[in-house]
Amino acid sequence: MASKNLNSNLHNAKNAKNDEFYTQLSDIEKELKHYKGQFKDKVVLCNCDDPRVSNFFHFFSYNFEKFKLKKLIAICYKNQDMDLFSKNNSEKAIYLEYYGDKNGNNVPDPLEIGIKCLKGDGDFRSEECIELLKQADIVVTNPPFSLFREYVAQLVEYNKKFLIIGNNNSISYKEIFKLIKENKVWLGYNCVRWFNTNNGLAEGARSFWFTNLDTTKRHEDLILYKRYNTTDYPNYDNYDAIEVSKTANIPVDYSGVMGVPITFLDKYNPEQFEIIQLDHWGILGNLDNVVNGKTLYRRIYIRNKRIGAS
Ligand SMILES: C[S@@+](CC[C@H](N)C(=O)[O-])C[C@H]1O[C@@H](n2cnc3c(N)ncnc32)[C@H](O)[C@@H]1O
Repeated sequence: MASKNLNSNLHNAKNAKNDEFYTQLSDIEKELKHYKGQFKDKVVLCNCDDPRVSNFFHFFSYNFEKFKLKKLIAICYKNQDMDLFSKNNSEKAIYLEYYGDKNGNNVPDPLEIGIKCLKGDGDFRSEECIELLKQADIVVTNPPFSLFREYVAQLVEYNKKFLIIGNNNSISYKEIFKLIKENKVWLGYNCVRWFNTNNGLAEGARSFWFTNLDTTKRHEDLILYKRYNTTDYPNYDNYDAIEVSKTANIPVDYSGVMGVPITFLDKYNPEQFEIIQLDHWGILGNLDNVVNGKTLYRRIYIRNKRIGAS
């Protein structure tokens, strides 16, 4: 029991540490350039973003005109020291509103940024933050990893468009995978690996952009060139599907169910493939799939829609 508690404490500590990984400006630029047209006249909310350190706030305030935004809101959780915009140290959380450059110098000056105090600590789940969420058209941020499920659930509940960073593991959260399977969430263009921390740049867990903004890549077919054969594509011992160890090796001519690595989602076009299930929960009753007695890493079961069901 003691070791279980220790493990869970270590796990929580690791998650909390990941919560303080800050996104590099270059990663934001690399991803956001694909969505520019979808931001016109939109209110953007960055609700886990201390403007002193958040490159999301930096990116949108400096690209406000280029992206033709209507308004930018940033919420700073538990703000302790707003010395960037104010000489007064504040114990309160704040939020910022920016309506674009007014004095023609193309720079978001402190005087152009409205700073308002929040009553609470700026938790994204608080009533006052939900009121700000309601104003937003698109939410863009890297939310705390430890609260990822709740964070996404809230965006879905309030029917918001979003582009957010989440780590590799979140794909296999039951709630998140369900949204991916139902084509309510998909992956963006890039992976994110390196983050700013208090100790400089650090390698975090492999992370993805999760979004419900349209991407061109999700309409592009994955080019398939391999042919099915029983040697290269063995059946699972415990499920009626074949094992495809690499996404690039998906056979062009197989109409039945195939197990593919999770990285398949990066190439997923819902017009080409149907996602059936994630292996480790649901149909296999929490078992990983097995080939010739060997347990494999997590797989997603898919079917090629272009060649119909077997
Ligand atoms: C992974 S960091 C990313 C920060 C920033 N969005 C970025 O990408 O650079 C997550 C941020 O969420 C803040 N945070 C933690 N819990 C929160 C909550 N309940 N509500 C809002 N923000 C929270 C953390 O303080 C941290 O600054």
